This record gives sequence, C-alpha cells and structure tokens, in this order.
Amino acid sequence: MNRKKYLAGQIRDHLKLYNDLGVKWMRPPEKTDRPAAGARKTRPRSVTPPAVLAAAASAANTNLFPEKSDALPVAEDLETIRVDLRNCKLCKLSSTRKNIVFGAGNPNADLMFVGEAPGADEDEQGLPFVGRAGQLLTKIIEAIDMRRDEVFICNILKCRPPGNRNPEVDEIAACEQFLFRQIASVKPKVICALGAPSAQTLLRTKEAISRLRGHLVDYRGAKLMATFHPAYLLRNPNEKRKVWEDMKTIRDYLASLT
Ligand code: URA
Repeated sequence: MNRKKYLAGQIRDHLKLYNDLGVKWMRPPEKTDRPAAGARKTRPRSVTPPAVLAAAASAANTNLFPEKSDALPVAEDLETIRVDLRNCKLCKLSSTRKNIVFGAGNPNADLMFVGEAPGADEDEQGLPFVGRAGQLLTKIIEAIDMRRDEVFICNILKCRPPGNRNPEVDEIAACEQFLFRQIASVKPKVICALGAPSAQTLLRTKEAISRLRGHLVDYRGAKLMATFHPAYLLRNPNEKRKVWEDMKTIRDYLASLT
C-alpha cells in the first residue's frame, strides 16, 4: 500500500472514532494546548456527587497498605515490583495463567489506566490491553492527543481469570498490593479506572460505575476518574460519548497543571 493511501486510511479511522465518541469539532492545537501568554489557567470544575465523595472518602480512610499503616508505600523502581511478581503464587490464578501481565508504558506517566484483569490475548502475550478492547483504548488515548507509550497501563489483577470471569475477592486481596506499589512508583497525576471492578476496588465501594464515572476525585495524592471499560463500549457504542466527556475532563485537568 502506498504511503498516501495508508495515511488516508489512518485519518479516516481517526475521524470515525471522533465521530463515534461524539466529538463535534476540534480547535487547532495552538489554541487548546497552549494557553496564551499571561492567560489565567482555570482548572476544570468538578462537581462531585455524594456517592462519589462517600466512596472516595472511604477509600482514603481504608488502609490500603496494611504493613505500613496509612502511608503510601515507599516509591520503588517498577523493575523491583516486577521482580517480586515473578513466579507469584499468591492466588489460585497462578495455576491457570500463561503469563503474568505486569503492565506497560511510561514509568513516569502523568496518566495511568487501571483495567480489571488480563483477557486471553493479554495472557498469551504478557502485555495489557492488546486485544480488541485494547485497540479501542489506544484510540481513546490518541483522541486526547497522547500516545499509548506516554501513559502507563495495568490492571487490578495481573493474571487472567479462567474464561474471563470476574475477579474474585481473594484474588483482588492477594494482588492489589502490586497495583498500589505501581501507583506509588509511577506517581501519576491522574488514574483512570476502567470499568466497575477497577473503580469499585480502588474506591472501596459497590456504587454503580454509571454513578462513579464523570468526576475527578482526590485519590492518594492524585486524581481518579472512573469511566466505562472499552470492552463495555464495544458492546454499547452509544456510551462512547460519556467516555469522551471523561477523557476531555482528564485532558483539561492535565493541561491545567502545566
Ligand atoms: N481488559 C482488561 O481489563 N484488561 C486487559 O488487560 C485487557 C482487557
């Protein structure tokens, strides 16, 4: 395929995604990305509903790092955490997994995505979000003018639950320590929790994802945005617009910090 045709195809795919996401128009990057010299920066207003506030408060009060009281774990190199995970047998998923899916991306990312658990493709390759849902996640990241290798992507569980069933309580309890160490290491400015199991685990709540999404909440020195999981969007494309709203809130918040 010649280069022009290839590029035209890429542009067509991108425009289709923007259309699916409900993007009506785009401002030139000079105006959106770089505030005019001397312009006052305004942070996006976040109106937080009581359910989200309650969930965030309970998550903040929960001792996520029991061995170190309420303090964040000491920030370590991601490689140290990866080595600790090697041959992990802390839960029953170790007997059915093919590969541990540690996570991938920029170790100093401003934005970190946390999914639920690896699926079949991820288990096969040892990498997060490489299947169909992962391809949609890549497009969502690119829709806010970021590259996949700029962010960090990981999951609550590092091993695939057989048949892609939901993570079980004992599996989350055994595995989440690695996620919290990853958060302490990467120190993202925003954590985007993808789907109910991720948002509910991080926020220590059973509140529905439809009520948790859409708002930045304080979360252990960062902001947390819950949104729908890309796999859910593949089944419910009409919900893409809500995810686009959430992504714009993240993009505007990150821009307000620079
Ligand atoms: N779904 C997830 O939650 N995580 C992955 O890595 C892939 C699909």
